[in-house]
Amino acid sequence: MIFAAILAGGIGTRMGLDKPKQFEIVGDKPILAHSIEKYLKVDEIDKIIVSSPKDYIKATEKLVKDYFDKNERIVVIEGGETRNDTILNSIRYVKTNYDDKDPILITHDAPRIFVSPELIKKSIVNVKDHDAASPVIPAIDVIFESKEKGKLTDIPLRKNLVHSQTPQSFKINKFIEIYKDLSAEEISKLDEAMMLFFLRDGDIKLFEGETTNFKITRKIDLKIAEAHLKEK
Ligand code: CTP
Repeated sequence: MIFAAILAGGIGTRMGLDKPKQFEIVGDKPILAHSIEKYLKVDEIDKIIVSSPKDYIKATEKLVKDYFDKNERIVVIEGGETRNDTILNSIRYVKTNYDDKDPILITHDAPRIFVSPELIKKSIVNVKDHDAASPVIPAIDVIFESKEKGKLTDIPLRKNLVHSQTPQSFKINKFIEIYKDLSAEEISKLDEAMMLFFLRDGDIKLFEGETTNFKITRKIDLKIAEAHLKEK
């Protein structure tokens, strides 16, 4: 079976609104509703697991009801302390409620509202013969490594650098197998699923992402998103 975890357990600190950014209206609906809509278009997905910050579960349930009334493909769960904890809660939901032999989870950042259903399908196709799969796009800026504030510690070659995006997919059983083998220190550093696979030489397939699939992060991104919606 194929599950999508729309990650919306964060509170959008960098956006600086009086509510988590996923509730902000862009165009005609909240950010979170845009993302859910894209996943509903992919028939291969059996269930869409939408996470929420603890204090916003009722608000998230209301959003789902208002925009996707009685859609049984969607469920709302509580997110975790960190993004990785939210992914773990999504995995727990799958393992508790389904008895599938080899389930796949597609994780998606809720603020990537311009993801295309084609990219989601590409993620599903790419994970079939691998442990995990992630879309990437080439780095635009030269990226400095600065391990100490104000100090330049490395300049990796830009031609070797790519930005990761979501939808990232992985095989849940393999994720759990690796997770059980990690030290507490390794677990504390996990931010995204690909890091876990990378730590144990997992077979990760990178495929081409979409430049329009950016993550709405700061206030300026809201303006860019509005402009992009008008163009469509
Ligand atoms: N996320 C999550 N659970 C957390 C933290 C983050 O599900 N405990 C999700 C966010 O809701 C978002 C995605 O991970 O969809 C990517 O994170 P980011 O864009 O950084 O969102 P926020 O954590 O909300 O923003 P900020 O870093 O500015 O606080």
